[in-house]
Amino acid sequence: MTAAPSASHSAPQVHIFADKAALVDAAAAQTVELMKAAIAARGRCTIALSGGSTPKPIYQAIAKTDLPWDKIFVYWGDERYVPATHTDSNAKMAREAWLDQVDIPADNIFAVPTDVDTPDTAATLYQQSLAKSFQVASEKDFPQFDVILLGMGDDGHTASLFPHTAALNERKRWVTVGSKDGQPRITFTSPLINQAHHVLFVVAGANKQAALSQVFAPEADSAVYPSRLIAPVGELRWLLDAAAGQGLPNTIEPKVHT
Ligand code: 6PG
Repeated sequence: MTAAPSASHSAPQVHIFADKAALVDAAAAQTVELMKAAIAARGRCTIALSGGSTPKPIYQAIAKTDLPWDKIFVYWGDERYVPATHTDSNAKMAREAWLDQVDIPADNIFAVPTDVDTPDTAATLYQQSLAKSFQVASEKDFPQFDVILLGMGDDGHTASLFPHTAALNERKRWVTVGSKDGQPRITFTSPLINQAHHVLFVVAGANKQAALSQVFAPEADSAVYPSRLIAPVGELRWLLDAAAGQGLPNTIEPKVHT
């Protein structure tokens, strides 16, 4: 599926949960519900995963659910340029926490090919695998993921779209090379993320407060706070724990779950 890039954007939903455990439970439950809804609507679910530490317990919870795994197709919104066996690999974390625990066909899992000569080759090959998987011929027709899970760093980055990097300005490619402190990453671009039906940010911890207040501020520089670039044609949900959700601008009316 692809979407017209000019489609309108819905206002973000912001949910605040009492603590990280409640956030993890809610994020897992909502992700499962969105996967089921995609399968009911379109016969399959395409989901892109985030890396980092927050998602691991969410993936462990999803692995305990009973889903039609043959109808679920898993990708990564970003990946470190390391071997698939490296401790920093986002794919390694998700396979150990979730994908190795369920009966999902190997062909349904699309890991970033990091065993190639350069990060740019990895990005190009990953984009080609997306084009084949979504059966899209033109780069202008951005694939439309059913679900994209994102985290946010304490600097306001998301995926591997880090402040003041060239990846923030990429508007044609679906997948590009990001950089964290000079370390190469492979990342979805913001226009690809913004074509999704559903984007879920899951953010926990007081250390994220300052960046969140800037991401939600009426005015701030998306080059400094790249999560501001995320405004999908579909639904945007921010799932926060209370520690992260304190200090949001009063323009935001979060749903507080007690
Ligand atoms: C990655 C992630 C990255 C992550 C944030 C938050 O590859 O590290 O995709 O964008 O979501 O850095 O990480 P934590 O969940 O560990 O705070």
